[in-house]
Formats: sequence, structure tokens, C-alpha cells
Amino acid sequence: MKIFIDTANLDMIKEINSWGILDGVTTNPSLVAKENTDTPTHVKEIAKILGDRPVSAEVMALDADGMIAEGKKLAAIAPNVNVKLPMCIESLKATKALSSEGIAVNMTLIFDPLQALMAAKAGARFVSPFIGRLDDIGTHGVDMLSETVQIIHQYGFDTEIIAASIRHPTHVLDAAEMGCDIATIPYDILKKMVAHPKTEEGIAKFKADYEKVNGPGQ
Ligand code: G3P
Repeated sequence: MKIFIDTANLDMIKEINSWGILDGVTTNPSLVAKENTDTPTHVKEIAKILGDRPVSAEVMALDADGMIAEGKKLAAIAPNVNVKLPMCIESLKATKALSSEGIAVNMTLIFDPLQALMAAKAGARFVSPFIGRLDDIGTHGVDMLSETVQIIHQYGFDTEIIAASIRHPTHVLDAAEMGCDIATIPYDILKKMVAHPKTEEGIAKFKADYEKVNGPGQ
């Protein structure tokens, strides 16, 4: 499974990039707004760090023509910038137009497998089902993700599924177990995925045993 980080924070992106596990970045208007810089400059910075790996940047227009115009501007920032569109009829039209010109679209705010199916048929390169926000309203987000994975994979669409709105490591585990293509994960959760108390206990014991015989190690 590919691992993306879900943030617009440059320090966090650089830190996770240094781990050697980062496959891409997703941003949204709320995440970019936290960074207090203008969107094109900021997206350019992120795209530079990522090299040829994908970075999703979201349009604000809500009509197809506006989405296409804004999407083309975002895609022109760098070759690895994909255009994030919110799921609706207008964005299906924009997806068709942008993908026909070779611009990759990430259809976001997906809460139902049929929305993902429609987006894939329109040519979306990525679809982003939001699992945490469904959990928030008492619906099993992971079940929706699983149905989406089954449908999109069985028809062989050239569309990758990004598990989004991830709130804890178990969401990532569920996504990996069901064969989801990508998970976009917040920084704090990525850190939690590395840590384990038994690992820390084991490291401390090996060090203590080594030092009993060899004296203080490095
Ligand atoms: O990638 C989608 C993500 O940014 C939404 O997450 O936690 O705001 O539901 P959240």
C-alpha cells in the first residue's frame, strides 16, 4: 500500500520524506489555510520536495468551467500536481475534460461507493473515500471503503483508491488488509504507526545487556 501524508505543513512533509516511506501528499483548503501562505506558492514548495511523486491540490470553483480553468492552473505549477475536485455532477464533467488532457484528478469528499464508481468512469486517477467523517455520524466508514475497493478493483479501472479522513492507526490497518491502494495519513498517526512499547522495551534491554559486558555503548 502506498503511503501519502495528509498535510500542507512543509516541516512535517520533509520529516516524513526523510523516513524513506513517502509516496505522495494530499492537501485540502483547510490544511493549506493553516499554513498562512498563498496556495500556488505553497503547492510549488510541496511539489519540489516530492520530485515526481503526486501532490493533490484542491480547486475552489464549483462549476465545471471554473474547475477546469482552476485545475489547469494548479496542474501547471509542477508536473506532479494533481487536481482535487469535490464530488458532484459539475466535477464529473470537469474530470472528463481534465483527464482527457492528461491532467490527473483526485475526486474527493467521497462517502458512497457509487460516487467512487461515477468518478472512476469519468476518468478520475484517484478517488478519496472519507472514512473518519462517516464514523463521526455513526456509519461504518471502513465498510464503505471496503465496498469501494471491491467495486473499483473488480472492473480494473485505472483509478487508485485513497483511504482518506483517517483518524487512528486501525483505519490504516483496515485499509491495508482490504488491499486499498493508498492511505493518506496525518503526521501524528504516521508516528504512532512506528512506535510499539515492546520495541522500546526490547531496545532498552539489549542496550543494558550489552553494557553489562562491554561498558557504555555509543
Ligand atoms: O484527505 C481528507 C482529509 O483531509 C480529511 O480528513 O480528518 O478532516 O476528516 P478529516
